[in-house]
Amino acid sequence: MTEQIVDIPWGRFQALSAVEKVPYLMQDNGAPYHTLFAQQFSAELLDDLARLANKIRAIAKTRAGTEFLKTQVSHKRAMLYFSQPSSRTFLSFMSACQILGVQTGEVRDTSISSEFKGESREDSVRTFSSYFDLIVMRTPEKGLAENMAWVLSNSERPIPIINAGSGQDQHPTQALLDIYTLLRSFERSGGLRDKTVVFCGDLLRGRTVRSLSYLLTNYSNIRQIFVAPPQLQVGEDIVAALKQKNTAFEVTTDFHAVLPEADAVYMTRIQDEWDNDKGDSDRIDTRLFKFGMRELELLPSRGIIMHPLPRRDEIATDIDSDPRAMYWRQMRNGMWIRAALIAVTFGCDKRIHEYFRHNY
Ligand code: CP
Repeated sequence: MTEQIVDIPWGRFQALSAVEKVPYLMQDNGAPYHTLFAQQFSAELLDDLARLANKIRAIAKTRAGTEFLKTQVSHKRAMLYFSQPSSRTFLSFMSACQILGVQTGEVRDTSISSEFKGESREDSVRTFSSYFDLIVMRTPEKGLAENMAWVLSNSERPIPIINAGSGQDQHPTQALLDIYTLLRSFERSGGLRDKTVVFCGDLLRGRTVRSLSYLLTNYSNIRQIFVAPPQLQVGEDIVAALKQKNTAFEVTTDFHAVLPEADAVYMTRIQDEWDNDKGDSDRIDTRLFKFGMRELELLPSRGIIMHPLPRRDEIATDIDSDPRAMYWRQMRNGMWIRAALIAVTFGCDKRIHEYFRHNY
């Protein structure tokens, strides 16, 4: 429960591992209060969120259901504080808020907020907390979301923070929608257990890969295969987490060799915005790490193709019409699972379950 986060100074909290931080971030009922890391989500919690998201999407199909949902959190306001570019995460959080009746405000350009005048991040976030009941935060700075969560928990307005992408570090709500997509795709083939997930592209700097790889360790007999040019191969932190969780994994450059074994392929963009020197990424040969018609032929009929998007040329547009191309549905799933996350954050999930039981 959040009171606990006041019992620990920032320096000591910061020094804990993500797993050690988890108890400080959860509510007494096991739901997240602040959502900062993938490590906060067990398989049970993921299943609960997926079930709730399914019910919200079913209820939202009717006008009466839409009206019901809109009253659930209409007494709360959310600040969408995105100091780094975003289309999907921003719009899906905004849509999720609208579904549940949460009013939203936004800062997307700090050159027109008082940060431009030299206001500190702490003061800015405390200012938002004066007017809002939730902050959804995207930032290029690793660790900033958790720092702000600690700051708010130690203020007179300890409102929750949801990390909507923090530097190269984590993107926990993207991982939630990825898991939700996988669970829906495999609901008739045994769920997520005994599956092989192939990650391909820029695995070093992709925060979505880090968060999803961790969430997958919740499921039994999952095999993760990382395919990337050596310069962009998955980081030591992910390797250490997989070893610690006894999750089977492989690291390779041979995409074609592993594609026939894939239940899911998770493509990623080359994240050149993180280049130390402009043009560094252009010097890496990425031609063997793209998905086109040849790769489609190698993918089993059960295999799905995912991408957090945005894409550049790593998935050919010819692939979009194949039934295994899941990325557009994956993106829309983000709206439903984020609505479910907001519902559990504010504790209105029981009412939604009851409404569903009485009406469906
Ligand atoms: N997947 C994702 O985070 O997309 P945006 O950057 O558009 O939010």
